[in-house]
Amino acid sequence: MRGIAFLLYLLSLFSFSIAGDSLTPTQPLLDDGGSGNLVSAGGRFELGFFSPPGTQNRYVGIWYHNISDKAIVWVANRQSPISGASGRLSLTSNGTLVVTDGNSMPFWSSSSSSSSNSAFSPVVRLHDDGNLVISDGRNNDSVSWQSFDFPTDTFLSGMRFGRDHSSGYNVNFTSWASTSDPAPGSYVLGVNLDGVPQEFVWDGSEQPVGRLGPWNGAYMSGAPTTNLQDLVDYYFEVSSRKLIYWYTVRDPSVLVRATVTPQGSAQVLMWVEGSQSWTQQDYYPRDPCDHYAQCGPNGVCDPTGSAICRCLQGFQPKNPRNWAVWEWRDGCVRKTELDCGNTTDGFFAFSNVKLPDSSWSTVDWSTQSLDDCKASCLRNCSCTAYARANISGSGSGSGCIFWTTNLTDIKHYSNGFGQDLYVRLAQADLESMSSGHGNKRSVAVIVAAPLVATFLLATAVTLLWRRRKTRNNKRKHRADEEEAVEEENLDMPLFDLGTIAESTEDFCVDNKLGEGGFGPVYKGKLKEGQEIAVKRLSKTSTQGTDEFKNEVMVIAKLQHRNLVRLLGCCIQGGERMLIYEYMLNGSLDTFLFDKDRCRLLDWGMRYNIILGIARGLLYLHHDSRYRIIHRDLKTSNILLDENMNPKISDFGMAKLFGGDETIGNTKRVVGTYGYMSPEYAMNGIFSVKSDVFSFGVLMLEIITGKQNNGAYQSIHHQNLLGEIWSLWKENRVAEIVDDSIHHSCPFDEVLTCIKVGLLCVQERSEDRPIMSVVLQMLGSNSSLLPEPKQPGFVVTGNQKDNDSSGALLSINRLSVTILEGR
Ligand SMILES: *[C@@H]1O[C@H](CO)[C@@H](O)[C@H](O)[C@H]1NC(C)=O
Ligand SMILES: *[C@@H]1O[C@H](CO)[C@@H](O)[C@H](O)[C@H]1NC(C)=O
Ligand SMILES: *[C@@H]1O[C@H](CO)[C@@H](O)[C@H](O)[C@H]1NC(C)=O
Ligand SMILES: *[C@@H]1O[C@H](CO)[C@@H](O)[C@H](O)[C@H]1NC(C)=O
Repeated sequence: MRGIAFLLYLLSLFSFSIAGDSLTPTQPLLDDGGSGNLVSAGGRFELGFFSPPGTQNRYVGIWYHNISDKAIVWVANRQSPISGASGRLSLTSNGTLVVTDGNSMPFWSSSSSSSSNSAFSPVVRLHDDGNLVISDGRNNDSVSWQSFDFPTDTFLSGMRFGRDHSSGYNVNFTSWASTSDPAPGSYVLGVNLDGVPQEFVWDGSEQPVGRLGPWNGAYMSGAPTTNLQDLVDYYFEVSSRKLIYWYTVRDPSVLVRATVTPQGSAQVLMWVEGSQSWTQQDYYPRDPCDHYAQCGPNGVCDPTGSAICRCLQGFQPKNPRNWAVWEWRDGCVRKTELDCGNTTDGFFAFSNVKLPDSSWSTVDWSTQSLDDCKASCLRNCSCTAYARANISGSGSGSGCIFWTTNLTDIKHYSNGFGQDLYVRLAQADLESMSSGHGNKRSVAVIVAAPLVATFLLATAVTLLWRRRKTRNNKRKHRADEEEAVEEENLDMPLFDLGTIAESTEDFCVDNKLGEGGFGPVYKGKLKEGQEIAVKRLSKTSTQGTDEFKNEVMVIAKLQHRNLVRLLGCCIQGGERMLIYEYMLNGSLDTFLFDKDRCRLLDWGMRYNIILGIARGLLYLHHDSRYRIIHRDLKTSNILLDENMNPKISDFGMAKLFGGDETIGNTKRVVGTYGYMSPEYAMNGIFSVKSDVFSFGVLMLEIITGKQNNGAYQSIHHQNLLGEIWSLWKENRVAEIVDDSIHHSCPFDEVLTCIKVGLLCVQERSEDRPIMSVVLQMLGSNSSLLPEPKQPGFVVTGNQKDNDSSGALLSINRLSVTILEGR
């Protein structure tokens, strides 16, 4: 008896030691509640069966051991889940790792090349860096398979990511299909070796959606800064047919992982000992210019620009009509063709850029001087641009990259980052540039304290009015002719003036719903019973009929459940009217800022409204065929249907009716003070980021139930953003929330919303997230989000002894007017 007991004891010791970090062919891992899970020797990683949130499916995976916020870093059978707990992971005697169910049905196997050596005694071990390695038990260096060569969506410290043409090495990351399904999703992050090697994110149809590179000796062009500089070290192996890199974390008590999300963004997350959850350290795309080829061939993307796209110097929009409605994909073409044979071409140096896509370019590493690069490019008629291949070191760099195609996916950095690109131009285009034919604009900014501003405002209005009047006279003649001619090619319903007049009882005052910025809005009822809202444009509108129709057509094509639907228009007898679907519950402000009606909006409804607006705005910014910048997002422009679903209205109106504008040349800031971002209010610069600012204000108003332009009268009062910022900094979050929803709101959700709101109203536009990121952020835990910086337009400290800035920050809602003259 004693002998048997001793034997059992020995056996238990034996199996215990094996179930540590490795498996042998005699020791399968069962889905038995986790007792047999492998744990790496240092206790950092764990391997076993798991189910993702929201499903019962079983997968074999690797995650961080003993971390409450579970993060799966690798999945074996990502495409073939096992239903039920019958799964087992075993190592065959020839060194293949297999996942099977109770009936020994194979669900996954490692593509292991078995050793021809008959004495092979395989063992699979989970290493402390998260790598699962199959090797010969007697020789740990004889790796026959490792999970680091077949990663899923996660880039771990020590993993080698990239591609090498000569060895065929290709390690890339594929997103999960969704957070509850590890099957390969739509997005792949990998390396392309064509031309000069670069890093790409591809979508489901293998089209690039993001690009980093080429490597310039110091960093990947397009990623001149990272938030991780103090956290990790990077290592690169680069040659003309190879790009491989890896990183290590400096502080061993910090965990870092990078993933491709199911939505196609890349993010870097960090865990510090003792924290409750992962925090996001970096993410990509950071702004719309990180979306591949946003501005088409020969276009330049500048996220801080008014319209984010412009043409390279010497180029013009290929399709000006599309360009004018922010449809940029067609890009730009040369104004003057190159004149290669006569050697009159020259170069324009374009500084601070992310180099264009180098998939079709060539590198010459040996060229030393920049003049030699130039000479080589000039010699070859197909060369369109050149740049330094290697800018590391102290000199002017070495080598050159030559492009022979259109220049695609250029981003401009206004903060001095990036490289120089030398673009080949015909003599004529170079000359026109140096003689100053370019867009010279002088900008007058009038911002002053209320009293002074009132005076200046009066002057400004007079100036504007005069300018309009002259233009109106010119336009008047043309308008009548146009009206008759062009109606037939408008592919949207045209309403008859008589019908509209009848439906609104001849624009009866009782049917007036309100007064928008561009004229009154009436409620109407068509004969068939459909209720409509009719916006009657004031006749002083400066826009030509032609432009009006173009714009209407753009808007008519927008279809989204969170946008008010345009049913048609009416252009007749000098009238211009827009006919919308009627929204039963009117606008959001009539609920939010009314002390009785605000009680009807519980937190659930408010959250739903926030999400709806965000989705509508995302559609306007990124998902519709056109890029629409709303420019006048505010509570009174959010309409509510019978189920209290929000719909953005007046979209595109600002652009549609601010007849003085073409893109990038804003002469008049339209919008509502309190919702305007600093760069827009002060410099007339608008972009998707100025809409994001307005959205942030809107969100914070929905949470607080207060208006942002409420307390502006005195320079000693803070505005709403300032108030929230102070409370936020002092950690008095509960006091931010509207009293009438205190009982109905889950704290986490509200906290996330406030934080996202604050991120949206940050002073610098480049710090604000784009709408797709906003939506992602709204769905995540607040502690994962970056910390917001101070909002724009916040009055801080005592403004008494700083008159100019005090005045700047305390302007009331009407006293900001910007004029931009030629
Ligand atoms: C290894 O063993 C598995 C299962 O026993 C078998 O399916 C596979 O073909 C073997 N591989 C090689 C290379 O012999
Ligand atoms: C990603 O890697 C796998 C395995 O090496 C390879 O089959 C696939 O083609 C790669 N995808 C891309 C886009 O490089
Ligand atoms: C060179 O210039 C001449 C005269 O301006 C012109 O006729 C000729 O076409 C040019 N050559 C090329 C190759 O463009
Ligand atoms: C011009 O450059 C292209 C691309 O680098 C190359 O294929 C071609 O041979 C060059 N032509 C000449 C005449 O050098």
